[in-house]
Amino acid sequence: MSDLAFIWKRPNTIAFPKVWHTFQARDLDSDELIEYRIQDLPLDRFDEALEHMNANYNQDEPIAQVLDGGKQTEHLEDYKLAWRPMAEQKVPLVCFKEGSDEIVGINMLFVINKDDHFMEKIYGHFKSQVTKDIFDLMMILYENFDPFQHYGVDEYLSSFGLSVSRKYRGRSIGDHFLATRKNLCNEFALKLTHTFFTSDFSNHNADKAGFETNVAIKYEDVIKTHPRFNHIKNIKSKAMTLKTMVC
Ligand SMILES: CC(C)(COP(=O)(O)OP(=O)(O)OC[C@H]1O[C@@H](n2cnc3c(N)ncnc32)[C@H](O)[C@@H]1OP(=O)(O)O)[C@@H](O)C(=O)NCCC(=O)NCCS
Repeated sequence: MSDLAFIWKRPNTIAFPKVWHTFQARDLDSDELIEYRIQDLPLDRFDEALEHMNANYNQDEPIAQVLDGGKQTEHLEDYKLAWRPMAEQKVPLVCFKEGSDEIVGINMLFVINKDDHFMEKIYGHFKSQVTKDIFDLMMILYENFDPFQHYGVDEYLSSFGLSVSRKYRGRSIGDHFLATRKNLCNEFALKLTHTFFTSDFSNHNADKAGFETNVAIKYEDVIKTHPRFNHIKNIKSKAMTLKTMVC
């Protein structure tokens, strides 16, 4: 899908796959602290990364969850279409624990340029109404906020999918993924990282990692102003936001 390729390319001078961050956290079946590492997602692990996202992200991300997107093949295919060019740009991160190559978590990162028009282009490929609803909600947040203009940049580090495997949650691994973005920004000479957050858990992760809030809208309010979203009224999170960390 060449029309979805990003303008920004990872410099060849930066090793790939690179380990960006290590930290200690509890093991699975004991309180013993072990080392986890956050590194670039190798291209040959992309299919497993998709399996991880289908099982842990598409099922539990609050909007997809309330709309049952995780059970719809077309929704999963739409996201696969979005994530492949990100993997090819070599920016997504994966978390492993020491002595293991089991996927603990994924952050589907990418570098977006103001001339990519990625969101508009990919929207035209979407087949699932769930995916369209998620993007339509995101666009409500962007109605009065343009990160390129607000921060005076041509490109920034963005993300489309932060996920920790269910069994590894509660170790603040989300905080570590978000804080690691600072290392990528520094190495790639990017001034900021900016993202759409849909979950109370990820919003909390972002606040702890040092993100500032640009726009926040409660789901109950969006339903009042846009009644066509009444079908998300049972969503389990409170608000969707746009947040930025200046690096
Ligand atoms: C966002 C996410 C990565 C955070 O995971 P994490 O870093 O492990 O979360 P934390 O360590 O901050 O968890 C804090 C607490 O919330 C709980 N928690 C975290 N995510 C949860 C979830 N999706 N559902 C229920 N409880 C959750 C943890 O178990 C922990 O509970 P505890 O204090 O009793 O131990 C994770 O919720 C996730 O993968 N969600 C699904 C996809 C998603 O919504 N992504 C973000 C969209 S922008």
